[in-house]
Amino acid sequence: MSYDMNKIREDFPILGREVYGKPLVYLDNGATTQKPRSVVEAMTHEYYNVNANVHRGVHFLSQQATELHEQARETVRRFLNARSTAEIVFTRGTTESINLVATTFGDAILKEGDEVIVSEMEHHSNIVSWQLVQARKGIRLRVIPITDEGELRLDEYEKLFNERTRLVSITHVSNVLGTVNPVKEMIRTAHDHGVPVLVDGAQSTPHFAVDVQDLDCDFFAFSGHKIYGPTGIGVLYGKEEWLDRLPPYMGGGEMIQNVSFERTTFNELPYKFEAGTPDYVATTGLARALDYVTALGMDNIYAHEQALTDYAMEQMATIEGMRFIGTPKHKDAVISFLVGDIHHLDLGTLLDRLGIAVRTGHHCAEPLMRRMGIEGTVRASFGLYNTFEEVDALVAGIRRVARMF
Ligand code: ALA
Repeated sequence: MSYDMNKIREDFPILGREVYGKPLVYLDNGATTQKPRSVVEAMTHEYYNVNANVHRGVHFLSQQATELHEQARETVRRFLNARSTAEIVFTRGTTESINLVATTFGDAILKEGDEVIVSEMEHHSNIVSWQLVQARKGIRLRVIPITDEGELRLDEYEKLFNERTRLVSITHVSNVLGTVNPVKEMIRTAHDHGVPVLVDGAQSTPHFAVDVQDLDCDFFAFSGHKIYGPTGIGVLYGKEEWLDRLPPYMGGGEMIQNVSFERTTFNELPYKFEAGTPDYVATTGLARALDYVTALGMDNIYAHEQALTDYAMEQMATIEGMRFIGTPKHKDAVISFLVGDIHHLDLGTLLDRLGIAVRTGHHCAEPLMRRMGIEGTVRASFGLYNTFEEVDALVAGIRRVARMF
């Protein structure tokens, strides 16, 4: 253990609370993570001491708020190792980031009959956004199939490219299977065909270091709330050459240079994509969250969560009737499972009564559920503050519920 867990857990006050008179065991980090004091305090401080609209005022507070907001953008740039802050667009989250690309890329570039490649393990946000474009523009979605273990069929992926392929949009890590996809290799393949790639990083950024220049992805999306930051803030990284080519997503203040009824010109990057007052307090919170994980070290977080996952898989495998959904070679800190014929909702509800928070259902990935021949799963997903004792509590909890059936 390369960081002091007791100290870490004190940074997250919510982890000390009880539910139903039992200590909370929070294992729903794939849905959202808890927030350290430094994030909440920075946001409170900003509301109490700095609050003013950004980029608009000449007055002191506005300038200070703008400085914090733009420093946050620089923190994100450094975190992703983007070339420039012009490539960092603030959005409400991964979903909005994907919709921004789907809408603008769809409008500017896609024509009837063009093809976009996604995969069978995508979250609905990376399926439905493209279906909306499909309805408007008559594009075709091509789907990379997966193996029974939950890995992408790379042989089939290569076969999907043709002269109509315009974009690949894939998840870095599956929110259900935990599969870490070989996106770097997949991006190289796509680029060999002259096709750009969007990577959904909602489930990767909280768990291991991401370097967008090393990946060479064209777009990368992630959410603040899944990486210990505030809700309602997210990021779209886009290569400058691509963001330049795309039209604005929404119209409003701050995204323009000049407006007249005859002709409106748009602001430079990244502001062209940031209409209206941004959540400038949340951007500060996001920056403090990124500072927090950076100080711990993404490699340390990764090592700890991998050890937790390995231990959990080992222990859970000893439970009679245990069935893992997703057993890829490279698996992140997400374990989806079913036990015997116990309904996932029953299992999740009874675990909750023991103080253990897990997610149940289709996890916004219905096509994947269909592929696996199930309706839903129970999902335990780990964060940097989870302990081996909490894994023991989960395993004991599942055993106890299983005995009741
Ligand atoms: N997409 C989030 C999850 O997987 C909400 O739980």
